[in-house]
Amino acid sequence: MTTRSSSSSVHRPEWGRVPRLAFGGDYNPDQWNREVWKEDIRLMRQAGVNLVTLGVFSWSWIEPEQDRFDFSGMDEVVELLHAGGISIDLATPTASPPPWFSEAHPEALLVDRTGRRLGHGSRQGFCPSAAGYRERSAVVVEQLVRRYGDHSAVVLWHIGNELGGYNAHCWCDATAEAFRGWLQRRHGGLDEVNRAWGTAFWSQRYSAWSQIQPPGLTPGRVNPAQQLDFYRFGSDELLDCYRAERELIRRHVPATPVTTNFMAGTYKWADYFHWATEMDVVANDHYLVAADPDSHVDLALSADLTRGTAGGAPWLLMEHSTSAVQWQPRNKAKRPGEMLRNSLSHIARGSDGACFFQWRQSDSGVEKWHSSMVPHGGEDTRIWREVVQLGGALERVREVAGSTVACEVAIVWDYENYWALEMDAHPSVGMTYADEVRAWHRALWREGITCDVVPATADARTLAGYRLVLVPSQYLMSGSTSAALTAYAEGGGHLVVGPFSGLVDTDDRVHPGHYPGALRELLGLHIDEFLPLGEGETTELDNGLAGRVWCENVVPGTAAVEASFVSGPAAGFPALLRRRVGEGLVRYAATRFDDTSLRALLSGALAEAACTPAARGGGDGIETVRRQGADASWLFVVNHTGSEARLECTGFELLNGVHVTGTLVVPPGEVAVVRESRQP
Ligand code: GAL
Repeated sequence: MTTRSSSSSVHRPEWGRVPRLAFGGDYNPDQWNREVWKEDIRLMRQAGVNLVTLGVFSWSWIEPEQDRFDFSGMDEVVELLHAGGISIDLATPTASPPPWFSEAHPEALLVDRTGRRLGHGSRQGFCPSAAGYRERSAVVVEQLVRRYGDHSAVVLWHIGNELGGYNAHCWCDATAEAFRGWLQRRHGGLDEVNRAWGTAFWSQRYSAWSQIQPPGLTPGRVNPAQQLDFYRFGSDELLDCYRAERELIRRHVPATPVTTNFMAGTYKWADYFHWATEMDVVANDHYLVAADPDSHVDLALSADLTRGTAGGAPWLLMEHSTSAVQWQPRNKAKRPGEMLRNSLSHIARGSDGACFFQWRQSDSGVEKWHSSMVPHGGEDTRIWREVVQLGGALERVREVAGSTVACEVAIVWDYENYWALEMDAHPSVGMTYADEVRAWHRALWREGITCDVVPATADARTLAGYRLVLVPSQYLMSGSTSAALTAYAEGGGHLVVGPFSGLVDTDDRVHPGHYPGALRELLGLHIDEFLPLGEGETTELDNGLAGRVWCENVVPGTAAVEASFVSGPAAGFPALLRRRVGEGLVRYAATRFDDTSLRALLSGALAEAACTPAARGGGDGIETVRRQGADASWLFVVNHTGSEARLECTGFELLNGVHVTGTLVVPPGEVAVVRESRQP
């Protein structure tokens, strides 16, 4: 067993010397020769690149054989970058151990749920709990930090890459042992584990720690509380890999910030709200999904969630793409102007930079058909011209760095609930999580409303900063969350809660009494029976809205019925209820809605709570976001439509350098960033 590193979260150097706005990308010089490196620096300078993430997958370059280090290439590249005035986000190469590692440590290769050990030849093929992996990672990180820690070009450390992307969970013996250790730390004794997991059910009582295994392949369904704890453990174990490396770096260079890149919104298995507390700078990667016509809205959710994990502070877009990716079935190229729109949407939503995967397009390997800043065709390409244009645009809007995003609405996102809600043996497989939160967020986006994304652990004080709080789907709810929501409503807040919420505690145990135990009092109702719908089935309400997936038999108590079901298994029962709580207002929806109905529901709630877009004229594809600084505010307008946008606004538009007096006109597909002369 490796020794678990402890958190030293007291120290947080934050951004330090990281250039803001940061502009650049993953730089993999080990795929190229010296002549290309020189050309790279020339082109980086031409585009205005100021930060590169160096050596994310460079382990076999710098340690070609175990304990034989060769830094000659990296030394040269570091000096070239430094001479070119380009700062370095130095990556530890631990996302991809070299072949010599897998040969020496076959026990560290990932084991899947079926017990099959996976082979070498890709990346992230290791088990995060493997002692051999932890030891060799520590060696290479120590070498790197000793060599480059004091170099003035190194302004940020980047640990691994998208931790857990391919190896979120492992089923090897080392994992089982680490899981038992984690359970002891969480629960104390075996009796407590038995209680938390409800092992009286199906005769699962454990009488010795050695009997406890990761929830693997079994003939029937696995204990849900055991699964939930395994997911918590998995998230913590990956974070522990991060912490172990970070501590090595901090020991040498305590003033240099450390980060790793999140995949907020798309990755399920890391509790990024928890992880973010261990980051000096929160960083995120986001890629558009070509098959999703609303992928620019998904971008907004990913950015809002990342900002939420950072507690509202500026964060860094570490990776996105200049055009197509190569890992989807059909990889659509971005159209002219789209990369600029994407980059500025991220910046509008709190990123202090726009970086890419990757700088130069690979000519071999899995990612050779993935777009990059320098395409195979070099400078004479549309993409390169737009990269240079983007560099200029970022220079012009640089003054927004350090400012934050002003929001009146918050939406709750909770990873533990995500894991618990989507487990099997539930009333309906249709009750999924991320896509439902995405639907609520999308409805706000279409209304032109930018929202914060807050964790379920947000306290009443935090919630009190918002006019409206949305809880789309919170099956798992602790007593402290229900207390915070209650205090928020009692304090005058407006709250909308979606169905199948407030049902179980943090051990996935049903709250006692009528459903929903954690929210019954606050909502002023109870649910007598769940009445899930069949696949594709819908249900109509008497106010014209339509539900899908789910309905229930709600018995109103102190809540007033606003609308009832007129078709489906819940016909005649209440579908929408509201309850006044002091000055506050709480609304409950007993079904999931299609997009049109959800928008109608939320636009009503927004109006009641007096929430408006950042500028008059926003909404329906005109994205408006306000960043607020100490002495100024900036209105970002991204026009995603095919028509001209007209907005009420006065100030100075930074991208085109023009004064705006009263009306801002943004052509189709274009972006404006206005330093406002009047504070909103
Ligand atoms: C990211 C990853 C990069 C690259 C990119 C391609 O998930 O961090 O290394 O693979 O995807 O889109």
